[in-house]
Amino acid sequence: MSSSSPRNSFRDTSPAGAPGRRRSRFTHRHLAQMASYNTTCPLRVVAHIDLDCFYAQAEMVRLGIPEDQPLAVQQWQGLIAVNYPARDFGIGRHCTVTEAKKLCPKLISQHVATWREGDVKWAYRPDAAANITTDKVSLDPYRLESRRILAVIRDHLPSHLQKVEKAGIDEVFVDLSAHVHAILLERFPELASPPPYDDPAEQLPMPPVSVLDWQADALVDLDEEHTEFDDPDWDDVAILIGSEIARSVRTAIRDKLRYTCAAGIAKNKMLSKLGSAHKKPNQQTVIRNRAIRHFLSGFKFTKIRNLGGKLGDEISQAFKTEQVGELAAVPVEQLKRKLGDDTGTWVYNTIRGIDLSEVNARTQLKSMLSAKSFRPDINSIDQATKWLRIFAADIFSRLVEEGVLENKRRPRAINLHHRQGGQTRSRQNAIPQGRQLDEETLFDLAKTLLNQISLDGHVWPCSNLSLSVGGFEEGITGNMGIGAFLIKGEEAQALKASSRASVAGDASDALHPAGKRRRIDDDGGGGGGGGGGIQRFFTRKQPSVGLGVDVRNNGGERLGNPPSLGTEMVSDGMMDSAHELSRGQSNRHRTPITDYMCRRCDASLDSSEAFQSHEDWHFAKDLQEEERVTPTFANLQSAAAASSGRTGLPKTGPAGTSAAGAASSSKRAGRPKKTERGQSKLNFG
Ligand code: CTP
Ligand code: CA
Ligand code: CA
Repeated sequence: MSSSSPRNSFRDTSPAGAPGRRRSRFTHRHLAQMASYNTTCPLRVVAHIDLDCFYAQAEMVRLGIPEDQPLAVQQWQGLIAVNYPARDFGIGRHCTVTEAKKLCPKLISQHVATWREGDVKWAYRPDAAANITTDKVSLDPYRLESRRILAVIRDHLPSHLQKVEKAGIDEVFVDLSAHVHAILLERFPELASPPPYDDPAEQLPMPPVSVLDWQADALVDLDEEHTEFDDPDWDDVAILIGSEIARSVRTAIRDKLRYTCAAGIAKNKMLSKLGSAHKKPNQQTVIRNRAIRHFLSGFKFTKIRNLGGKLGDEISQAFKTEQVGELAAVPVEQLKRKLGDDTGTWVYNTIRGIDLSEVNARTQLKSMLSAKSFRPDINSIDQATKWLRIFAADIFSRLVEEGVLENKRRPRAINLHHRQGGQTRSRQNAIPQGRQLDEETLFDLAKTLLNQISLDGHVWPCSNLSLSVGGFEEGITGNMGIGAFLIKGEEAQALKASSRASVAGDASDALHPAGKRRRIDDDGGGGGGGGGGIQRFFTRKQPSVGLGVDVRNNGGERLGNPPSLGTEMVSDGMMDSAHELSRGQSNRHRTPITDYMCRRCDASLDSSEAFQSHEDWHFAKDLQEEERVTPTFANLQSAAAASSGRTGLPKTGPAGTSAAGAASSSKRAGRPKKTERGQSKLNFG
């Protein structure tokens, strides 16, 4: 997009020569931090973009179905995506096809594509739903669309000013800070001049505008103590520019590929994600810094990412509330005492909308998995081999997408999981390097692993098989020297396990380097003063003792499905290995759920919500790890203070629940009444 196109978003209605305006709350240093994506920068702008009912839209686009036609995507007898016209009939993912058709007889229910034994490619088959025993779901069509969408987003943003993180099959985070910074300097040339006395701590002049023309579909209301009469500061201007960019990205996706999506624009990932979920479909929500408190106070904290599940339960029991507003009144020391230092601090920050996690400009996946749960179980190596053929084809076609033929990326480890009832066996092997990887090689490797597993004896019947590859190496070329084949540090250690049973470790060791996994586990144990860290909120399932092999369960896949329903692992395909492997998808309708297991730490979760929340927790912990280098808690507070223009506890609860709250209440007194969202005369000079 052109960053210089004139906009009507800013209007200066202040009388010429209005008497000395205040300085901005932000400094030249803050402005400079934008250009380097500094996560503590109070002018930071992050967008989260999430496709509306993604799989359903993909089918509508593919089939050229009118937008108002109710449509759902079917997997066996269940629904995995429902478009918005169908949602109007009360149809959701919880419905079976039969129930959905009762609610809306004209519903189109399109079955997902499947792999079928003997076929070389996945296909959309009219009889797929009746062939759960011979077909395997393929999400390739959606992965391909996902890539096209990502490409449009990337093409649309200036290449040298973009930071895009693919966060799932249908969503991205975009750190817009550097891009917005460039636009700010163009539109407000006064910002480009050096700070007075060359002192970066000098405050910026106020924006030369007094009205911001928000076109956002949804602009979150301001906090009680702020009004639309307050002059906008540079954070408002930055977020407004971010909102323009998000809108133009959405328009590009719409124009080029016909997809609609929702977006959230705010100062960090957590808030932007809450924002995109706020108004759907095809809308965008802006959460200005001055609106954060108001926005969050309406939430139950159990609805906030990472605060569901047991951690949320424990907090609500300890503090007798589920409301963000009320929890915000609890001093940090008290949170730390009850939850441990790390968790207490983290909760304190999170409910205040503080999130310093980086947008990771990583879009490549680290592993791929193809799996099938058998209903009924399979009983022979012959049957299993037929599935391995399909898995190899499935994975290979995805590897081709990843550029394996050009040797852009290739996996170095292959892993087979086998489940018999509650017991999982697995073997892994290194993938020979130095020659072209092909489907046949994958198939042969998989067969070798299966043979090794079957040497254990008593491995039939088998209820689930899954093949995965991982340990991707970048940019190897056919002629590279030996260096290309040397494997470093923890990866080497992981691969040492090659070709032998993973007796003590998880079979995903080669995919998740040992060091990283250990770090996560250690973290859980040594979390903080209060005892045990966040990890203790999650049940650990003791591996039952098997035949001297790994008996852990396949990550995240639901156990104990009733025999009539098939379960398949489908993963986002773009997520990192941990998420990909742990994101078990399955028919999620009316099946009694007995267990979910986390591949990363073996925690056992009893519902998909708990599982999601647990995944989120890992995500948060990973981020925390990344942030060890970033400022301490005290700094966080001052960063937050800089961005909200105040210090201390935000008061989102009942009036006067904290000193800061009391102070701000008195400051509020006598303020003019709020005007319409985001609009009005702001400057009284
Ligand atoms: N998905 C799934 N099972 C889930 C969650 C998601 O199969 N439990 C798939 C859906 O089919 C969906 C895609 O992943 O199309 C993206 O998921 P999500 O963004 O959560 O939902 P959407 O269907 O896109 O709906 P929304 O408009 O609410 O984002
Ligand atoms: Ca979505
Ligand atoms: Ca999503």
